Amino acid sequence: MSKRRYRIEVMHGVNLDQLGRRDPLLYGELTLGELEVRIEQRGRELELQTSFFQTNYEGAFVERLHALAGHADAILLNPGAWTHYCWAIRDALEIAALPALEIHLSDVQGREPWRAVSVIGELCFATISGRGPDGYDDALELLRDELDRGGS
Ligand code: DQA
Repeated sequence: MSKRRYRIEVMHGVNLDQLGRRDPLLYGELTLGELEVRIEQRGRELELQTSFFQTNYEGAFVERLHALAGHADAILLNPGAWTHYCWAIRDALEIAALPALEIHLSDVQGREPWRAVSVIGELCFATISGRGPDGYDDALELLRDELDRGGS
């Protein structure tokens, strides 16, 4: 059991609002709203307080990261395609200075070579990919354990 109710900011980047319309073989059939309900429920079981953010605008994603200090204890982020090239998001994640876990629905290592590159990976204590929505369950547990350990 956690010592207190940690606050997890769940951030989805570009095109993740289109889940449900994207290739179900890669991304599953859930809409983003349905995925968030699932994450919220699993979070509650783990005594985690989840909040959600999605944008298709790089600057908005960056500014959300800037604003997290004092409002979140950790970040669970799937920046979508930004993962592979957006150094501004990498720098904003560094500024946020919170424990972060990178997640992808699809197996980014097993797809096109450019998807195997992550500019945020070095700042994240773990990366999960290719597990679909189940990966978010694992991610929440890892985040809770990391925060229990006092991760930074
Ligand atoms: C994704 C993988 C990215 O390569 C892709 O651009 C996405 C989604 C995933 O969750 O599998 O938009 O982050």
